[in-house]
Amino acid sequence: MPNRIPERTARPRRFLMCRPTHFTVDYAINPWMDPERPTDTALAVRQWEHLRTLYRRLGHTVELIEPLPGLPDMVYTANGATVLDGRALVATFRHPERAGESDAHQAWFRAHGYREVRRAGHVNEGEGDLLVAGRRVLAGTGFRTDPAAHAEARALFGVQVLSLTLVDPRFYHLDTALAVLDDDHVMYYPAAFSPDSQALLRSLYPDAILADRADAEVFGLNAVSDGRRVLLPEPAKALAAQLAEQGYEPWPVDVSELLKGGGGPKCCTLELRPA
Ligand code: ARG
Repeated sequence: MPNRIPERTARPRRFLMCRPTHFTVDYAINPWMDPERPTDTALAVRQWEHLRTLYRRLGHTVELIEPLPGLPDMVYTANGATVLDGRALVATFRHPERAGESDAHQAWFRAHGYREVRRAGHVNEGEGDLLVAGRRVLAGTGFRTDPAAHAEARALFGVQVLSLTLVDPRFYHLDTALAVLDDDHVMYYPAAFSPDSQALLRSLYPDAILADRADAEVFGLNAVSDGRRVLLPEPAKALAAQLAEQGYEPWPVDVSELLKGGGGPKCCTLELRPA
């Protein structure tokens, strides 16, 4: 009997993005950033515009936060907050270079009618480390987000929060090593996690798609899924093929310029989950 390809269902999403008007790499807070290497801001803007256009074509809503000079990493809106049930837990960044982004996000959420807007009391880099998977949050730690922030998220959102420990500095945020495909499915790169976290992931998601090292190293896991369509960096070819075999539609995107800051499509995309 031929293997059945599962039917996947897309759900329209609401995203927050920030145009990379001030994008550059002039400090290094992750191993991908090299201030010596030139960046092309105009190209970053074009790649970002393409991403935004694609979301709209796929039926999603994109809201924008104003880019601020001196905050070149602001394009990575995923780090600004975690939003669930209309509640926004606004980031507290580990590095002083990004601290100013917290105020900008807090002001944005306050101005847009969220029922609760709280600034994290511990280091918490938003959806970089706190990924919502159905009624559960998968929460990364090891490089950026403090484990105490996981407990704070549990208290605010009232959902299960499972901690996962990252061990490879190249995969410094959870969203560089794991992507949520829909409420019940994920894909990830096992070697980015501690042995205990690998065991936890195996027990939670026995049928998960596993990325190989080459696809993880081109940020293939920094992907955005609407349940069916999965936008991921274009060089992650084997991962795209695995997604297609599992009934998802891979949508490769060119984010080469944005990768110089250590971020891909997911880093540029914060999901807004209404009440
Ligand atoms: N340069 C940024 C940093 O190191 C990149 C953030 C990428 N965002 C993400 N969600 N992983 O903080």
